[in-house]
Amino acid sequence: MSSASKNEDGTRNYDLPTPLGMAEFMKQGWAPTPLVGIKESEAVRFCRDRRTKLSNEFFGTRLVIPAGALKVRTNDTDYRFRAHSAFSWLTGITASESVPESVLVMEPRSNGHEALLYIHPRSTRDSEEFYRDATHGEFWVGRRMTTEETEKRFGIKVMHIDTLPGVLRDATDTVVLRGHDKAVDKRVEKHKKREKALDSWLSAARLVKDSYEINEMQKAVDATARGFVDIVKSIPAATSVKRGERIIESAFFGRARLEGNELGYDTIAAAGAHACILHWIKNDGDVRPGDLMLVDAGIEMESHYTADITRTIPINGKFTPAQRHIYTLVYEAQKAGFNAVKAGAKFKDINDAAQAVLAQGLAEMGVLPVSIGDSLKEDGGYHRRWSVHGTSHMLGMDVHDCAQARNDQYRDGVLEAGMILTVEPGLYIHPDDELFPAEYRGIGVRIEDDVLVTKTGYQNLSRSLPSHPDEVEVWMANILRQ
Ligand code: GLY
Ligand code: MN
Ligand code: MN
Repeated sequence: MSSASKNEDGTRNYDLPTPLGMAEFMKQGWAPTPLVGIKESEAVRFCRDRRTKLSNEFFGTRLVIPAGALKVRTNDTDYRFRAHSAFSWLTGITASESVPESVLVMEPRSNGHEALLYIHPRSTRDSEEFYRDATHGEFWVGRRMTTEETEKRFGIKVMHIDTLPGVLRDATDTVVLRGHDKAVDKRVEKHKKREKALDSWLSAARLVKDSYEINEMQKAVDATARGFVDIVKSIPAATSVKRGERIIESAFFGRARLEGNELGYDTIAAAGAHACILHWIKNDGDVRPGDLMLVDAGIEMESHYTADITRTIPINGKFTPAQRHIYTLVYEAQKAGFNAVKAGAKFKDINDAAQAVLAQGLAEMGVLPVSIGDSLKEDGGYHRRWSVHGTSHMLGMDVHDCAQARNDQYRDGVLEAGMILTVEPGLYIHPDDELFPAEYRGIGVRIEDDVLVTKTGYQNLSRSLPSHPDEVEVWMANILRQ
């Protein structure tokens, strides 16, 4: 069930009743419409390897990993469905191919686990569901795959979801990835510690990406780069209306829906001093020539892999000296961050390298109340008044990927080849910050790129988008000339 305001059968109170004659008539006269030419998903062989690793870790335990259920937006209307990343990572089922309330069950066997996928398959035309049920009905939400079609596409044994409650009633030792499907959660006994261990394992297992994932990440980044070109093209329209940030946001959204599944996260379209609000997603401000505009945006592909890129651009195409000063400082900090990325280095090193450059620059501007050294000490942090967020996070199927990994694997961990992360220093001088001369107030700059950790260093997946201030100006001029 999705919306609280829908009836058990998916109908709403204001739906028209179905007369008996109509109900009978609806069952007749339909040609068979099997899906032909189903190709096995490219992700299948990678998913098998992932499930084997999971099986080895949790030998003898039944594991229940729900895709999640629909979430209400308003009354009986739901948000577009997006399956949980752990479910998608293990099954290869993503985007419009995923069905709400699907559940992956890893059933323990003597030699490991058998993977069973429970779904709402396509409803047959002999029930009323296909035309009456606004949640699952084919006439309402489109065709779903049958169990056989799903088996072909995703190389996994598929069962009807209606049989899952019976399975979960037996005495098998079971651990669920809790919190994503209430109907499943209530059928599985709570094991707080073991559930946390499963959640953490599933998160940490995604730290190092396989070749399929790296490829998809590059596609996400490339689509996002095209979205940034769309953004620059939309600047004349954005400056000519009130609330021009909405024009910028929608230009990018169009690209996300055209080339991908969705946005990886709500676009931050922050003109002028809005750039100082780190997660500015209201996007209802004006876009004024002379100001900077910070756009933080990422396209999530059909495979669910998302980019996370920020560019800060001068709305009229040219940085003022004050804007360029702050921008260049952030640019240099990012370079230092990049140079700290390599297998064997600590995750923290990236942040430390970038922050050292920012602290130095702020000290040179005379705004630090203590020495650079004291500010950079763990109990210092004075420079962070203008840069309160960390410099990096893991990136993948979730924009803040692998967030349930243990500290020793992530925050205090060591980088490994195949990890993908952001390098995103920023400086934000709020309009009411009296410590800075007036010309700097209201300037916010972040530069964010997506990098793959390699044995010897890194590969910047988003290098096609210019970030040096001179290159940004030329890039914008070329786009706007077209
Ligand atoms: N877009 C959110 C972030 O950069 O972490
Ligand atoms: Mn980020
Ligand atoms: Mn971002």
